Amino acid sequence: MTQHVFWNCQIATMEDGKNAYGLLECGALVEEKGFIQWVGPKADLPHIYSSEDLIDLGGRLLTPALIDCHTHLVHGGNRAQEFEMRLTGSSYEEVARAGGGIISTVSATRGASEDFLYLDALTRVEALMAEGVSTIEIKSGYGLDKKTELKMLRVARKIGEVCDIDVITSFLGAHAIPPEFKNRASSYISEVCLPTFREAVDEGLVDTVDAFCEGIAFQPSELVPLFDLARELGIPIKLHAEQLSNIGGAKLAADYGALSADHLEYLDKAGVVAMSAAGTIAVILPGAFYTLREVQKPPIEMFRKYKVPMAIATDSNPGSSPMTSLLLAMNMGCTLFSMTPEEVLLGGTRNAAYALGLKDKGTLQIGMQSDLSIWNVRHPAELSYRIGFNPLHRRIKGGKI
Ligand code: NIG
Ligand code: FE
Repeated sequence: MTQHVFWNCQIATMEDGKNAYGLLECGALVEEKGFIQWVGPKADLPHIYSSEDLIDLGGRLLTPALIDCHTHLVHGGNRAQEFEMRLTGSSYEEVARAGGGIISTVSATRGASEDFLYLDALTRVEALMAEGVSTIEIKSGYGLDKKTELKMLRVARKIGEVCDIDVITSFLGAHAIPPEFKNRASSYISEVCLPTFREAVDEGLVDTVDAFCEGIAFQPSELVPLFDLARELGIPIKLHAEQLSNIGGAKLAADYGALSADHLEYLDKAGVVAMSAAGTIAVILPGAFYTLREVQKPPIEMFRKYKVPMAIATDSNPGSSPMTSLLLAMNMGCTLFSMTPEEVLLGGTRNAAYALGLKDKGTLQIGMQSDLSIWNVRHPAELSYRIGFNPLHRRIKGGKI
């Protein structure tokens, strides 16, 4: 069947400028060959579409498929022992400075084969797909040498080719300073990160570039050559910024017209204003805040005031956010940061698409891709209200049920 007509459903179109959630109370949606042809109240469904192929959704909720716009789900090993250390008094920074943290995952990832990384990542990809996620972003950043960074990106591409999910890759070569370049961040950038970035782009492995701007990683000035090269190569920028301290990362990202700045717990007003002016999306990552038992919350009220769109993501990674549930991230956005259920659903749909530079996903409008989720709930607030509950009824990817 090349056409599907869904009807008798609540439709959260997530369209801008409409009522809350862009909600259609008793709606219908027509998709054909992977694209939305028509959406509106069931009563207005044009006769040409009322055939015997109607799919009655029995009053269920239809939303755009979820988009997880920030993950590190390709990696070797796990960090359960570091989790134990943090629970007996060490901080994330102390663990990192003692050679644990990101660097311990770098060793495990360097030592893992491409096949192992792929199969290990699949468990996390499948967990996300099972709750209606149809697009994910996957970062490199646990290689920090050319061979392993390219290996991670190839695995990410393979996931997009083999699984029924779209993958956006991010080159995160500037995630940490590898031990062989200790105290020589700039040399690492010029000798390893930049040439690897060029090669990865040449191989078609890179959709966006990201970095970790922090005291334990890179200063804003050290990232300038990377962002200049991104500009030259036409690769959109994202940045881990202001997660543990405020050092002006988001402002740097905004100055480069970044798609997003992510984490942002320590962001100040100047940073919010810069992001607003640049149209940079704030990606909120409550899983890392929760895992690290942070107390400083991202400036949600200022994002609202200065109209910075907020996305929400799992940050799925072995250290600061070993989480594979976007619905849980949405629940945490509400409970920990007082975001509204509408804001977190926008954060996992429309604004997540913006954070990845995707123009034809994230809302249910004519011409958008038919990536849909059908839920066994009536109202969209139910998606973020429950904890550890997966009400997915069906997932539709590019029109395929
Ligand atoms: O997004 N903040 C930096 N990077 C990851 C953490 C990665 C790790 O701890 O392995 C993050 O939280
Ligand atoms: Fe991250």
